[in-house]
Amino acid sequence: MFKSQEFLNQSLNIAKIIISQKLKEGDIAVDATAGNGNDTLFLANIVGSKGKVYSFDIQANAIDNTKSLLESNNIFRNVKLVNDGHEFIDKYIKDKVKLVVFNLGYLPGSDKKITTKAQNTILAINKSLDLLVDGGLILLVVYYGPPTGTDEKEKVCAYSEKLDKQKYNVFRLDFINQDNNPPLLIGIEKRVYRQKNG
Ligand SMILES: C[S@@+](CC[C@H](N)C(=O)[O-])C[C@H]1O[C@@H](n2cnc3c(N)ncnc32)[C@H](O)[C@@H]1O
Repeated sequence: MFKSQEFLNQSLNIAKIIISQKLKEGDIAVDATAGNGNDTLFLANIVGSKGKVYSFDIQANAIDNTKSLLESNNIFRNVKLVNDGHEFIDKYIKDKVKLVVFNLGYLPGSDKKITTKAQNTILAINKSLDLLVDGGLILLVVYYGPPTGTDEKEKVCAYSEKLDKQKYNVFRLDFINQDNNPPLLIGIEKRVYRQKNG
């Protein structure tokens, strides 16, 4: 998966390790922030032609970039690109999904003012929780610091910390000896419901 022996240096790398454990061929997954399409491609390669990936972005050029990346990798069928906000996820997805990934912040190489926002992100997480299968997972790579600020990070962390422990396993991973606000990783796993029968 990684070219270098060193990979414990980025949230995105850890996210990929977790995704490759959780997601299987034939599953349904969501890229809530398509950007340049790297995560969509990663998900599409795992779920294969029997699975499906929904990929959202509010920027038309992000959707175009993602489409081009998929086409250059011969992926045409199993990805549904949605040029709309992830806060409207329930309008587009009626299936149960195994995994939702958010890569927060702004699109590299694009307008830094167009960035994910706490209010929309939290609404999208909330709706995603309803769409998850038991054992399903939401992963958030949270960029913060200039120019994005810390508002989104603080609100998303506060929201995640308060999730019911009977229903969700929640973790937060920080890189504690790096400079310049390294992105952190938050994971929310929907616990498998077991009926109490004495
Ligand atoms: C850090 S980039 C994503 C990088 C991407 N995953 C990749 O592999 O290249 C964040 C993206 O979120 C998008 N975005 C911002 N607000 C959004 C929203 N409400 N719904 C969906 N996408 C949004 C931005 O347009 C931007 O492309």
